[in-house]
Amino acid sequence: MDIRKMWLADTPLRLDQLLRDAGLYSKKETRELVSQGRICVDGEPVLSACMRLSPEAVISVDGDAVSLPAPVYLMLHKPAGLICATTSDLGPTVLELLEGPYRSMPLFPVGRLDKDAEGLLILTSDGALCRRVTRPENRMEKKYFVTYRGTLREDAEALLAAGAVLPEGIQCLPAKLKRLPGDTAEVTVTEGKYHEVKRLISLCGGHVTYLRRLSIGAFTLDPALRPGEYREMTAEELKMLFL
Ligand code: URA
Repeated sequence: MDIRKMWLADTPLRLDQLLRDAGLYSKKETRELVSQGRICVDGEPVLSACMRLSPEAVISVDGDAVSLPAPVYLMLHKPAGLICATTSDLGPTVLELLEGPYRSMPLFPVGRLDKDAEGLLILTSDGALCRRVTRPENRMEKKYFVTYRGTLREDAEALLAAGAVLPEGIQCLPAKLKRLPGDTAEVTVTEGKYHEVKRLISLCGGHVTYLRRLSIGAFTLDPALRPGEYREMTAEELKMLFL
């Protein structure tokens, strides 16, 4: 089955998002084209740039069919020290690791890892996949390995499993904690609140000193990739994001 059709059937994309992700038109440009009646979907003029598209939709601008570039999916072993963004004034971003043809592609990171964090990061040009992975309602599990200082409270597992409330009053979705030997643990969350894993461990009495993302759903970081290395994901790996 065409992977992209799977994403789109699961999370229908808006016309303006699809054209922006493909690097063709900004959202503003799409709005203008729509208001001028220049965009059609399946032969009918589009009335709203926010229209949600079926996987089979045929888009045309001024009568010419729009061919969307094939989306790209990279698995990166993020090293510490780089920012998860497409641009930043605060330092180099993960995109600066890319070489050759990947440098000019409209790729962006799927979700965030902190600057000091390492591990599995997907880079893609496919907004539908990004939403599939990052939307809390999709409950996609992200598993992290952490080392920490301090002693975790006895009921830490239950505290996270019940859905912890952060000091600012922010309610988290239920998370899993698995203690490992020494001052290490695995934490699994299904959303991406700011510094969520660090703040959950802090709530339990610890202070994270190292954090590495191990997996997203059933998709795990390729152990052959060293920090800073990346490769294209296989079709099998993409399917794992659907399990
Ligand atoms: N939680 C964190 O605290 N940091 C990350 O980078 C990811 C999840």
